[in-house]
Amino acid sequence: MFIGKKRLGEMPANEITDHEVYLNRRQFLNGSATVATASLLPLSMAHAETSPEPTFLDLKQSSFSTDDKLTSYDSVTTYNNFYEFGTDKASPAILATKFPDKSKPWRVTIEGEGDKPGEYDYDDLIRPFTLEERIYRFRCVEGWSMVIPWVGFPLADLIKRAQPNSRAKYVEFTTLYDPEQMPGQSRKVLDWPYVEGLRIDEAMNPLTLLSVGLYGQELLGQNGAPIRLVVPWKYGFKSIKSIVNIRFVEEMPNSAWMKAGPREYGFYSNVNPDVDHPRWSQSRERRLGEFLKRKTELYNGYEEQVAHLYTGMDLTKNF
Ligand code: MTE
Repeated sequence: MFIGKKRLGEMPANEITDHEVYLNRRQFLNGSATVATASLLPLSMAHAETSPEPTFLDLKQSSFSTDDKLTSYDSVTTYNNFYEFGTDKASPAILATKFPDKSKPWRVTIEGEGDKPGEYDYDDLIRPFTLEERIYRFRCVEGWSMVIPWVGFPLADLIKRAQPNSRAKYVEFTTLYDPEQMPGQSRKVLDWPYVEGLRIDEAMNPLTLLSVGLYGQELLGQNGAPIRLVVPWKYGFKSIKSIVNIRFVEEMPNSAWMKAGPREYGFYSNVNPDVDHPRWSQSRERRLGEFLKRKTELYNGYEEQVAHLYTGMDLTKNF
């Protein structure tokens, strides 16, 4: 249960990193943080962390926030999956430093089965929303998980503006296709552009965010700038990055990963310790920066918020 847990400012000093203290210095009046023992950390975490000024100053905690120890900013921004910038974890941070090209406007089109379709410039898209910071555990299918203080707004708020009609059963999301900016797209490792989907009620759940930042700063290219999805009870690949199109559809979308491996990647992809991936167990996970694995929790610990979405469904068939 993650509702109503301790706020970030109440965390004991030994559970936080220097970077967090920096970003939240107004809250951490007595913040004398210690960094975890370097020998237990991946190399990237042992580096000195940079401390740029936060972009989003009005940081609030959502009622869904967990008090779990946050993954360090350095790990979150250097250990990534973003196949448009290479298939290994290190390449996105190296190759996406100039992404997206700031000289080109970022537009998001909202279309399909809705009464208010539209094409929005990024600034117009986010202007009506009050940005708030939420802390979500974020888990990836490769067997590691992270806890990230996301900045974003509920996808539901945007969906309500677009007024989907009764034929809108699913929402399909598409990433930018631009091999000039995204060198990985010139190799056919996935069927580009990257596509993901949610059922409309999953998309409307208050845990589902459109994120524009993390750790109080704008998203970096490697994390899916300028706008990406965060679906904390699902495996990481559902959280599509650098979105340019949101479409309301009647039929279940066929995602990039379903096309790549239909036996391995299902539409739902809910975190579930009892349903293994054909090639590996999902019962335990390693949290980035931790040495020992921990038990995976059903729906990544958000059972209370999302279990009702799957009542009566066979989760082994609907994986
Ligand atoms: N979105 C796009 N467009 N391309 C990708 O390759 N990778 C997914 C997801 N979103 C991916 C994507 C996968 S597999 C994971 S685990 C998460 O992004 C990783 O997000 P992170 O690098 O911010 O931790």
